[in-house]
Amino acid sequence: MVGKICGTGSYAPPHIMDNNDLAKIVDTSDEWIRERTGIVRRHVIQEETTSYMAGQAAMRAIEQSGTDPEEIDLILAATSSSETVFPCMACEVQKMIGAKRAAGFDINAACTGFVLAYNTAQAYISAGIYRTVLVIGAESMSNMVDWTDRSTCILFGDGAGAVLLKAEEGTPCRMAAYSDGKKGEALTALSRHRKGWEELTGEEKKSDKESYIQMDGQAVFKFAVRKVPEIVEELLGQENLGVEDVDWFILHQANRRIVEAAAKRLKADIAKFPMNLDEYGNTSGASIPILLDEMNRKGMFERGQKIVLAGFGAGLTWAACLTEW
Ligand code: ACO
Repeated sequence: MVGKICGTGSYAPPHIMDNNDLAKIVDTSDEWIRERTGIVRRHVIQEETTSYMAGQAAMRAIEQSGTDPEEIDLILAATSSSETVFPCMACEVQKMIGAKRAAGFDINAACTGFVLAYNTAQAYISAGIYRTVLVIGAESMSNMVDWTDRSTCILFGDGAGAVLLKAEEGTPCRMAAYSDGKKGEALTALSRHRKGWEELTGEEKKSDKESYIQMDGQAVFKFAVRKVPEIVEELLGQENLGVEDVDWFILHQANRRIVEAAAKRLKADIAKFPMNLDEYGNTSGASIPILLDEMNRKGMFERGQKIVLAGFGAGLTWAACLTEW
C-alpha cells in the first residue's frame, strides 16, 4: 500500500513584511536580502496562532479532497513553534476539523519536520495500520526570532500547509532520514513562550538573546548543500533512477542559494526545483506543504509524476522521500 495525496491546503497570514520593512528595524537592505537569500517578503502572524493556521490549511486540504473529516485515521502535525506544548497541535486541529476518529501527535524536527511526518504517514499506510492520514506543517517563526538580529530575523516567515493521504494499492515510497546531534549547536532555540515581537519592549528584545533562534549560518549552509544531494542520490540509487527520471525536487525553502547549489551538485535541471521563498521566506516545517499546495492549485502535477521531497534543519536533521503524485 502507498499513500496518495488527494488534497492539499495552505494558509499564510495576510500581514506582510517586505525587506524594506525590515530595513527600518535592523541594519539591512532589500538588495542584501534578495542577493543572499532570494527572499523578498514574508507573511507574519498578528492575531493568528500556529494551531489556527494549521487548522485552516487542513480544512482546505480536506475540502479539496472531498473527504468527510470522520474518515481521517491519523493527524500528524510537524511544528517546532506551537504556542502550546500540550495539547499538541494535532489534537487542536482534530477539534477544529471534527476528525472524531483520528489519533494525533506532533513531530518536532524543525525544518525537517514535515518530511519526517510525511514519511511516518507513509510507513503507517504501507504497514496497513491507517488508510487516511492528514499531514500538516505549521510554524510561527516570528515568535522565535530576535528582531534585533539582522543575521536571522530576515530569513523567516509564518504559515501552514497540509496534505491528505489516502491508501491505494502500490509500492511503498522510498524514504530516508538522518540526524547528527553532535552538530546541534549550529542551530538552536530554547523552548519559551513568547509575546508577539511588536509587543516586546526594547529591553526585552535585547535581553535573553539565547532563547531566540541562534544560528551559525555558514555551517548550516554547508551542511544543507552537502547532505541534501547525498540523501537524494541514496534514494534514487535504490530505485536505479537518475535525476532525469524525477519530475520535481521539492526542497525545504530555506534559501535560494541552497536550492541552487543542491541542484548543481546533483547535476539536475534547476527548472525542476520550484521555489516560493521570495514570497514566504523560510517557514521551516511549513515550507514544503505550502509549496506543494501552490503547485497543486496551479495544476503543475500529473498523476504518476515522480517527486522528491527533501527537508533539512536543526538537530541537525535531514530526511527525504521519493513519492509519486
Ligand atoms: N543585512 C546586511 N548585512 C548582513 C546581514 C543582513 N541582514 N546579515 C549579516 N550581514 C553581514 C554580516 O554581519 C557580515 O558582515 P561582515 O563581513 O562585516 O562581518 C556579512 O554580512 C557576511 O555575513 P555572512 O554571515 O558571512 O553572510 P552569508 O553570505 O553567509 O549569508 C546567510 C548569511 C544568508 C544566513 C547564509 O549563511 C545562509 O543562507 N545560511 C543558511 C542558513 C539558513 O538558511 N538558515 C535558515 C534556518 S535553517 C534551515 O532552514 C535549515
